[in-house]
Amino acid sequence: MIAETPRLIIRNWRDDDLDLFHQINSDERVMEFFPFRLNRIEAGEKMQAQCRIIEDTGFGFFAVERKSDCQPIGFAGLAQANVYPCLPQNAVEIGWRLAHEYWGNGYASEAARALLATGFDERGLKEIVSFAVSDNARSTAVMKRLGMLPDPERDFDHPRVPDTHPQLKRHVLYSMSADDWKKQKDNAISPGTSGS
Ligand SMILES: CC(C)(COP(=O)(O)OP(=O)(O)OC[C@H]1O[C@@H](n2cnc3c(N)ncnc32)[C@H](O)[C@@H]1OP(=O)(O)O)[C@@H](O)C(=O)NCCC(=O)NCCS
Repeated sequence: MIAETPRLIIRNWRDDDLDLFHQINSDERVMEFFPFRLNRIEAGEKMQAQCRIIEDTGFGFFAVERKSDCQPIGFAGLAQANVYPCLPQNAVEIGWRLAHEYWGNGYASEAARALLATGFDERGLKEIVSFAVSDNARSTAVMKRLGMLPDPERDFDHPRVPDTHPQLKRHVLYSMSADDWKKQKDNAISPGTSGS
């Protein structure tokens, strides 16, 4: 297990997650802002590739499981951004993708907060970024809920979005520094709750 929250477990992939992984990556609603869809074979290959990346680097997108019924609901992770030269090679992004039926419950934000804690408090990252197609309001809403800030000077055209999908190229970038994370944690400890 990578992290645990009140309602969720963030863990490594298991073979029996393939149904969910395929469902997510082939659902038009979930994939609205991506230029690809995966069939079951491609989904299996991608899930294996994700496992290898996690094994090799410790970074990547992990399965998110709901504790109440042990149901995998999607994925979230800290990953090497892999959009050089738009971002430096060592940039770390936070990202999320949930099956459609689990949207609207706060699960993505809950998983992401735990990942920010892992990134800053355990791995000592100086900055975590997130980026999304500019029209992807649900994803940028997660970034805002987390307290990440827009950084329009670093918005970019995604280098791996093909010219056949010009509307998916422009990405907005949000970021959080380790200092901002610390301030957010300090502010969460409200005055007057010390018990005195
Ligand atoms: C992006 C994505 C993960 C966001 O999921 P989400 O469920 O909207 O996000 P959150 O987990 O932050 O949930 C927030 C919603 O849950 C609601 N909610 C319900 N119960 C809640 C609770 N207990 N705690 C917090 N929020 C709760 C909030 O009010 C909010 O509702 P709203 O959307 O009506 O404003 C999802 O839309 C998705 O998978 N999209 C497709 C993939 C994608 O585009 N990924 C990003 C690529 S950059």
